[in-house]
Amino acid sequence: MLFRSCLRGRWARPLIAFIAASSLLAGYVYLSVRPSYTLYKSLERLDPEHSHSVIKPSQKYVRFKQLQGAGFNNQAQEILLFHHLALSSGRTYAYQPLIWRPRGEHATVPLSAFLGGVTRNSISSAVFDEICPESEVKHVKLWDTYETLWTKTINALRGPERCIVVDDWIMYWGFLASDALHDIWPGFKDYLREHFQWSRFITEIADRAQSQLHLRSHTSQSEGEPYTALHLRRGDFEEHCHVLAKEHTGFTTWATLPELRSRVAHPPLDTENATSVVEHCYPSLRRILSVIDEHAKAHPHIRALHMLHDGAWDHPTVYIQVQKLAVALMDASRALAAGWTNGPMKIITHSGMLPVRLGEADWAVTVDVEIARRADFFVGNGFSSLSTQIIALRLGADNGRPEDIVFY
Ligand SMILES: *[C@@H]1O[C@H](CO)[C@@H](O)[C@H](O)[C@H]1NC(C)=O
Repeated sequence: MLFRSCLRGRWARPLIAFIAASSLLAGYVYLSVRPSYTLYKSLERLDPEHSHSVIKPSQKYVRFKQLQGAGFNNQAQEILLFHHLALSSGRTYAYQPLIWRPRGEHATVPLSAFLGGVTRNSISSAVFDEICPESEVKHVKLWDTYETLWTKTINALRGPERCIVVDDWIMYWGFLASDALHDIWPGFKDYLREHFQWSRFITEIADRAQSQLHLRSHTSQSEGEPYTALHLRRGDFEEHCHVLAKEHTGFTTWATLPELRSRVAHPPLDTENATSVVEHCYPSLRRILSVIDEHAKAHPHIRALHMLHDGAWDHPTVYIQVQKLAVALMDASRALAAGWTNGPMKIITHSGMLPVRLGEADWAVTVDVEIARRADFFVGNGFSSLSTQIIALRLGADNGRPEDIVFY
């Protein structure tokens, strides 16, 4: 009734204009967050050609059972380990597409749009099916104790069979958080240095973001400010951390490395103590500020900070927390009271400010990882696979120093 009388009355035109404008805006937002279909389609066409071009006689291949879902970094961390396993045993890796939840529960996107290094000398799973008919495939199950899994897998993959499919999922969370990973680290570091590469799309956007946000890489002499990257992991961690506390879970993957043991903000993590787990996994803003205070005092030349965060429509309060931190860190009197000798932060940027263009939204998370990799200093969350991916790239691919990392 009201609506119809509005349409007839003097509100008609403004109302129609408003509805038209909102649908245009909604359409724009929808399009800009949607993946770039055209690009994905063209990559899906090119990938088989590329796979065929890397095939050589007497080559051996392996395909693993992979995680079907979770976030980008959870998938990426095991894809990198699988690729490393394949190369270490003299096999070509058969890669699978990424599962991309923002596009739908079981939606997939081409891996080559993200991990250029992994896909360069590998074949796609579809091409594996072409060249490895089922009658010529050896199926293996490899799960073992954490300590023996890696060696057992390498030994199995060194076998004479041309095509191997690993049927069981071997990258259990428990394995990824265990000390068994420490023995793998030296080899994995070399692997990252030699083989890790983003797709060119990601590197391009990261370069653009740094130049527009005025953040200078620690390896470059270009324009901009040296900066710290802070990973604020909130979102679903609010509940997740309490589950981890109850289960007495510690840090994950590379955050457990012995060389980083002294890089945890005081008091140290005590997994027997549930309060301590939550304190490190979902710290108060006050605690995060005090970690940055320590760091800002020790590095008076760094007065720019980039915050990686997971604010989204379903976690809107994260934006408020980002804003609160930004206000506190740019407050001159607070900085003085906290003992900063060189004034407060001059530049604060965050994930929401990345200059991501139409159709580039899928890359935002990887661009954030790359920006944190290039920072002078990194403050991260030892329970997060995004933080540990950054650690792997800094310490492994770039041979960086543990001293330039701290876990809150
Ligand atoms: C548990 O951890 C909290 C936070 O660090 C600390 O205040 C408390 O004293 C610890 N409790 C015990 C029994 O160690």
